[in-house]
Amino acid sequence: DELVPSGKSYTVAIIKPDAVAHGKADEIIMKIQEAGFEILASEERSMTESEARDFYKHRAGEEKFQELVQFMSSGPCHVLIISKLGDEDVIPEWREFIGPTDVEVAKKEKPESLRAQYGTEVLYNAIHGSNDREQASRELAFFFPNFKSQQQHTEESASRT
Ligand code: TYD
Repeated sequence: DELVPSGKSYTVAIIKPDAVAHGKADEIIMKIQEAGFEILASEERSMTESEARDFYKHRAGEEKFQELVQFMSSGPCHVLIISKLGDEDVIPEWREFIGPTDVEVAKKEKPESLRAQYGTEVLYNAIHGSNDREQASRELAFFFPNFKSQQQHTEESASRT
């Protein structure tokens, strides 16, 4: 197993299929690094419809769910584990960096954010970030089953003895 360094906070980011299809993945990855984020792992991959449904299962039943699933499984995306140098909590920092969910709001209120720059509408908002630690941990397990947080690793070792 690979480990997230001990005590480090991490978030799972996705460069979504719209931004990848527009040829923006490399540019976005450069901006992420320039902003001082650390990319602990990255993988280009396509989600199947069933994976997309599972990934967003907390939104199942909502009016736009099927559209969201279609979009997220429409082509390759880049899934990243992001951390930050120092001991700041990377989750709110990342949310701040990508900007509001709704691209219209992002353009008005945070024009320098990734969603303002690369998104085109609320559904096609180019970038994902985990909402909180619990979601980050679920998303880490979902995309990187071999990548463990130090805490998970310790718990699993303890349960084996
Ligand atoms: P959500 O988890 O609420 O937002 P975020 O990605 O900022 O954590 O929603 C997941 C995705 O669903 C969002 O990135 C885009 C889409 N979405 C819509 O299409 N319309 C909406 O009104 C909302 C709230 C989200």
